[in-house]
Amino acid sequence: MEYRRLGRTGVWVSEIALGCAHLGSKPADENQAVKLVHRAIDLGINFIDTANIYVGGRSEEIVGKALKGIRHQVVLATKVRGRMGTGRNDEGLSRYHIVRQVEASLRRLQTDYIDLYQVHWWDANTPLDETLRALDDLVRQGKVLYIGCSNFAAWQLCKSLWLSDKNGWARFETNQVRYSLLDRSIEGELLPLCESESVGILAYSPMGGGFLAKDPIPESPPVFWARSHRDRRSESVTEREKRIWLSVKELAQKHGRPISHIPLAWVLRLPVVSAAIIGASNVEQLEENTKASGFKLHDEDIEFLNQQSSD
Ligand SMILES: NC(=O)c1ccc[n+]([C@@H]2O[C@H](COP(=O)([O-])OP(=O)(O)OC[C@H]3O[C@@H](n4cnc5c(N)ncnc54)[C@H](OP(=O)(O)O)[C@@H]3O)[C@@H](O)[C@H]2O)c1
Repeated sequence: MEYRRLGRTGVWVSEIALGCAHLGSKPADENQAVKLVHRAIDLGINFIDTANIYVGGRSEEIVGKALKGIRHQVVLATKVRGRMGTGRNDEGLSRYHIVRQVEASLRRLQTDYIDLYQVHWWDANTPLDETLRALDDLVRQGKVLYIGCSNFAAWQLCKSLWLSDKNGWARFETNQVRYSLLDRSIEGELLPLCESESVGILAYSPMGGGFLAKDPIPESPPVFWARSHRDRRSESVTEREKRIWLSVKELAQKHGRPISHIPLAWVLRLPVVSAAIIGASNVEQLEENTKASGFKLHDEDIEFLNQQSSD
């Protein structure tokens, strides 16, 4: 496993991180889920990403259970912002909600501190300085070591960095965003900003939610993609998606690798990417994906993939 710096910080994280969005989604699977986390650590993964809203808190609970006694071996990331109850204040980035949620996450994770606490997405109803001050307090209290954001547009991150700098507060060291051959929308504004300000990109859904890891080509588009980028009625794979999948397959054959390694190596070609956050439904997928670490595509491969994935 190769390790990279978490943004500009002095912390080293595995370039393949374990995403836990679906951990515990099937009640009978708790032991399997714990085994998956343990196997990830055996394979050199030291970076684990979850969120308070994943599986209604179950994901954090299972991560907490899995890390009992080995908590110090990992860089543990979680998130706040999504709805956690039916009350009017049970969501968002107010000081009120953040302070309650950090305690709930610490309890579920069975830990005294969170290594990377991320705001899951923008909250237009809360003044940004309220959020940043609350997060800075958590850092000063030692409950949180670093803060990050997720799904922030360039202007939102830029404004946040400016406010933190102006007030001497902890700043967002990472932005967790969707990035893959299927979705390159961050390349215009956000990516150059992160490079310029040394904010680490944590690329989620790097294999397009699994679409770019399956062989043969899936019959329908990846779920997230269908939900957020397409006409929901459209159930078939587009020409562009097919073209990208075929290019990935061609390069996998050329390099004698499973197809999942090509989209992962493509995302990890950029030094500003601190980690690719992968999902894995079982240990076999996890083991296969982890072996992509250290694999480098040739310049002409990257050029080819860039051409094939342009809109
Ligand atoms: N911040 C955010 O808003 C946000 C949003 C989404 C995700 N995330 C984070 O990113 C993580 C990963 O997201 P993702 O699950 O969309 O990422 P992904 O790595 O692109 O896709 C993972 C899925 O691909 C399939 N897969 C993985 N390896 C495979 C292999 N070797 N061969 C065949 N299929 C394979 C599995 O689905 P099957 O069950 O179909 O096999 C797996 O669940 C999440 O767990 C979460 O931590 C964050």
